[in-house]
Amino acid sequence: MTPPARKPAGKAASKPRAGAAKERAEAAKPRAKGAGKAAARQAGPAKPAFAEGLAQALAQVQALEQKLLMQTAKLQVMQEVARVSAGDVSQDEMLELFMDVVLQVTRSEHASILLMEDDGGHLRFQCVRGPASPLLKTIKVKVGEGIAGWVAKNGQSALTEDVARDHRFTGSIARQVNVEPRGILCVPLKGRRGLLGVIEVLHTEGRPAFTIDDLWSLEGLANQIGVVVENASLFSNHNEEIRRLEALTAASTVVNSTLELKELLKLVMDLAARSLRAEASSILLKDKATGDLLFDIATGDAAEAIKTIRIPRGAGIAGHVAETASSLLVPDCSKDPRFFKGADEKSRFVTRNIIAVPLIARGVVIGVVEVLNRMGGGTFNDADLKLLQALAHQSAVAIQNAQLFHDLQESFLSTVQALAQAVDAKDSYTAGHSSRVTQYSVLIAEELGLDAETVRKVRLAGLLHDVGKIGIRDSVLGKPGQLNDEEFAVMKSHPAVGGTILKPVAQLADVVPGVVSHHERFDGRGYPGGLKGEDIPLLGRIIGVADAFDAMTSDRVYRPRLPDETALAELRKHSGGQFDSRMVKAFLSLYDKGLIITEPSQFKGGDGA
Ligand SMILES: [Fe+2]
Repeated sequence: MTPPARKPAGKAASKPRAGAAKERAEAAKPRAKGAGKAAARQAGPAKPAFAEGLAQALAQVQALEQKLLMQTAKLQVMQEVARVSAGDVSQDEMLELFMDVVLQVTRSEHASILLMEDDGGHLRFQCVRGPASPLLKTIKVKVGEGIAGWVAKNGQSALTEDVARDHRFTGSIARQVNVEPRGILCVPLKGRRGLLGVIEVLHTEGRPAFTIDDLWSLEGLANQIGVVVENASLFSNHNEEIRRLEALTAASTVVNSTLELKELLKLVMDLAARSLRAEASSILLKDKATGDLLFDIATGDAAEAIKTIRIPRGAGIAGHVAETASSLLVPDCSKDPRFFKGADEKSRFVTRNIIAVPLIARGVVIGVVEVLNRMGGGTFNDADLKLLQALAHQSAVAIQNAQLFHDLQESFLSTVQALAQAVDAKDSYTAGHSSRVTQYSVLIAEELGLDAETVRKVRLAGLLHDVGKIGIRDSVLGKPGQLNDEEFAVMKSHPAVGGTILKPVAQLADVVPGVVSHHERFDGRGYPGGLKGEDIPLLGRIIGVADAFDAMTSDRVYRPRLPDETALAELRKHSGGQFDSRMVKAFLSLYDKGLIITEPSQFKGGDGA
């Protein structure tokens, strides 16, 4: 059949209608003849004029039926317009409803609504009916290729009764999905701003062939559907823009909210998963030494399981993204050979689709951020990809800053630990004392429910509490027997000396009071300040209990360690006197839970004997 381009209006447009009516009249003739014979049996010879009249009447009835069908279809479309305007249905749901109408009007079972991609050069199968539906959704049609491509390129309809004789039909998609259409009806889907896509209906074996009336009916529907699709698209774009702005506003708050790396990563992840409506998300950071990617943090049910996974450099989708510094949107992971199945196997999570975007800070890839599985079973789109890229762009430098801050803190802690070891090495009787006191003190602080920052200060104060012993001469520090008054006075100066040593270090300003006050007593009989009760800094009261317990349960050169029970009894006895009763209570509770573990005595003859 001739190209199916529909002429705009007037005579040319009315001709085929008349032709179709004639065809139907012809088709109706045999039935008219049969009716004539019946009439002849009753009323004598057949009258040709009667048969012709009956045929015309039948044709008119069919035309009226078609008109009624169209009116009903248009009404259905109008109802959808109202529902779409009210925001009740998504674009996909709306297209499914339109598809019902298209199939009804064209009396077909195979049809597709293809929408134009953002690039303007391809059509994607957005809504498909027929056995090849799942396969078609993975295929794109180049504008200009095949019948649908021809319609998209020219903006004109096509009606092909026999695809084998239509040079525009390439058959490449038909072969891919194993469908053999006989004829094709394809009309453009236009909006006020241009072409939105095409509607394509297939005529397959055993179904009635399409007529020009079908073409016009479909065009009429397409005009209405086009307006609705365009409005829905504008509405969706508007919502998309709001979602994007909300996400980016939240991101700017998130990235400035903390320098704590884990906390920052969690905030970024939660924001990415929420903004992109993903089932799970993860951040993989690059191991600087090997280039491998490590699942630093993940959200979703399988978060803990995948944190132990290391992805070798360049492997998997994330590895590819990190190596090429370019994003990937994978709509179906099962079909992408790059997909690394290890994470799914370990976590028992089934990744259907994924967006992976590189985290680039100061021109260097520091990791990859991923969102997995669009909620509700759908797939991610280009708008989602752009949104994740924008989030990654905003987050990358903040993540790198947090990494640097974390490294700085680690390096500072290492320096403090080295200093603590130097102190312990100087006082040979107290090897390991500083680290044990630190361990007990941190446990007490956590038992008291203190915040992370205070716990951090407790850790530093615990490590450094005896740093002042560096300034105590060896003859006093290493004396095996009892100290005389002068020596004891020298020894008692170590908390204040510690304060003097640490004072120039700005990062330790909050820690110094804990170091200076660790020998104060709750009853006011301690040193160096004779402070009483809660006038003693919190850190000092915590370390005081930890220090006393470790001193009692450690060997001295002149005595073996005391049994744990004896040391605990001493803490109980002096609770509220030498020690803050809150700290003693917390410590006893920790001991009961089995969290305080002491080492056995090195003295021959047993523990504490
Ligand atoms: Fe001390």
